[in-house]
Parts: sequence; C-alpha cells; structure tokens
Amino acid sequence: MQLPPTLLSEEQVSNRVTQIAEEIDALYADTEMLVLIGVLKGSFIFLADLARKLTIPHRVEFIAVSSYGAKESEHADPVRLIMDVRHGIDGQDVLLVEDIVDTGHTLAYLKRLFEAHAPASLRTCTLLHKPDRTEREVDLDFLGFTIPDVWVVGYGLDYAERHRTLPYIGQLPPDMR
Ligand code: IMP
Ligand code: MG
Repeated sequence: MQLPPTLLSEEQVSNRVTQIAEEIDALYADTEMLVLIGVLKGSFIFLADLARKLTIPHRVEFIAVSSYGAKESEHADPVRLIMDVRHGIDGQDVLLVEDIVDTGHTLAYLKRLFEAHAPASLRTCTLLHKPDRTEREVDLDFLGFTIPDVWVVGYGLDYAERHRTLPYIGQLPPDMR
C-alpha cells in the first residue's frame, strides 16, 4: 500500500501531545476530576495518548457526531449528536477533545450543546487546526498544530475510513483520494 507523505512525524506529534498534557495538568492542578470528552471517531488515538500523559485526576467520555449532507445545509448547524455522554457533566470541569478543527461548525455546535448542561467550566482542545477554512470562530484553549488547507490522515484521522491508524500525520495528495 502506498503511504501518504508525512506532514507531522510520530515524534513531533508525541512531543506536542506531551506539552499539551503538561499545559492541561497546570491549568487544572486544583480540579477534583477533569472530564475529557472525546469526539469520535477521529479523536480516539489523540485522547488515548493525551489522557495517559495527564497526572491530574480525570475521566473519559466519548460522544459521536455526524454531519448533515449538503441537501440539509439550510440547517443553522450542519452537525448533530448521534451518541451522548453516559454520565452528567453539570458542575464539572469539562474539556472537549477534537482531532481537527476545520470549518469550526462541529466544535461550535458542541460548545453550545454542552454549555446548556451547566458545567463548572468548558474548554476545548484540538490536535490540529486549519485556520484557512474557518467559517465559525471557536476559542481553542489547547491547540497542537496549525496546518494549511490540506487533507490529513493518520493518528485517528481518516479518508473514507482509510489511514486512520497510521502512526504519523500524513498529507493525502489528491491522487490518493
Ligand atoms: P468542522 O466541523 O468543519 O470543523 O470539521 C470537523 C470534522 O471534519 C473533524 O472532526 C474531522 O472529522 C473532519 N475533518 C476535517 N478536516 C479533515 C482532514 O483533513 N482529515 C480528516 N478529517 C477531517
Ligand atoms: Mg473529529
């Protein structure tokens, strides 16, 4: 199988994830229990690595979202929740963990959704961000890497479910799509 060229090596990603974990440890040093909410499927590898590098008490939840198709684009928000958290988050410190922020619609929707559940705090963490693609501005409290407008795969990210478990972040050229 032809492998996509490297955008961020395994070592670059690992080092940055360690730094983000240190930032989270510092900010939440006094938190009793941080709730990490991973957005499936893309964030599963990032969250697994990040969570294991944290030293503060934390628990893990997963949610899943799905995008509406183009036909439904008249919806105010082109995103819907297809799997919710198992345990309530009211009064708790919550960190939403995403693989990548592209247009910003997913994270904007999720922030609004979880704010309605009255958490003590709600912040966002994303490994990757494509600022050139922004349609909705969302505060990114923890950010791994800013990348150009290219399709990336690996480390949880896919193209039609392919390349998700590559150990590095690759850039998928148009002829491999
Ligand atoms: P947004 O709502 O446009 O910010 O897009 C968020 C979702 O689109 C991400 O969580 C990914 O699942 C997917 N996505 C956007 N860009 C990429 C990419 O380059 N590779 C893989 N998935 C992507
Ligand atoms: Mg995602």
